[in-house]
Amino acid sequence: MSPFNVPHKFMQDTTVAGYHIPKGSHVLVSRYGLGRNSKVWVNPLSFDPERHTNDGHVSLLENDLKFISFSTGRRGCIAGVLGTYITTMLLARMVQRFDWTPPPKGIDLSEAADEILTPAIPVTAFAKPRLPPNLYPI
Ligand code: HEM
Repeated sequence: MSPFNVPHKFMQDTTVAGYHIPKGSHVLVSRYGLGRNSKVWVNPLSFDPERHTNDGHVSLLENDLKFISFSTGRRGCIAGVLGTYITTMLLARMVQRFDWTPPPKGIDLSEAADEILTPAIPVTAFAKPRLPPNLYPI
């Protein structure tokens, strides 16, 4: 995953959150910084997926930039709904078609020190087909 959103260039002078941004500036929004902003998230460093389901509704189309999945505004992703369906179907097919088991040493989800959101150790798991062979296209 990229630590920054796609770079954008300001076409005119503007002010964002009280900061003057001169025309021509390149702006990089930190995905890492947004997701760990303690002014927005309670205990941002805790693994707590429920923070996204507190109101019983999950949306990855987030217009306040509390986090970035599809971003927002004029340059936001045109395919938020399609992307969500594709990702959900991919996950569903992986779960439907394979029995998954962790490697003998287990799965270590610690992050690498590079701060670009990569795992310290590559995440691996064993996938054993659970359906008839003709249902797996080559
Ligand atoms: C899970 C899947 C996807 C994710 C997470 C994703 C995320 C993003 C992000 C973060 C941006 C940049 C927004 C910005 O610059 O502020 C973007 C732009 C864009 N995405 Fe996606 N995207 C996904 C799937 C797709 C798909 C399936 C399509 C096309 C069928 C698509 C088409 C585009 C296009 C055309 C832009 C550029 C929009 C513009 O600059 O006007 N994306 N996407």
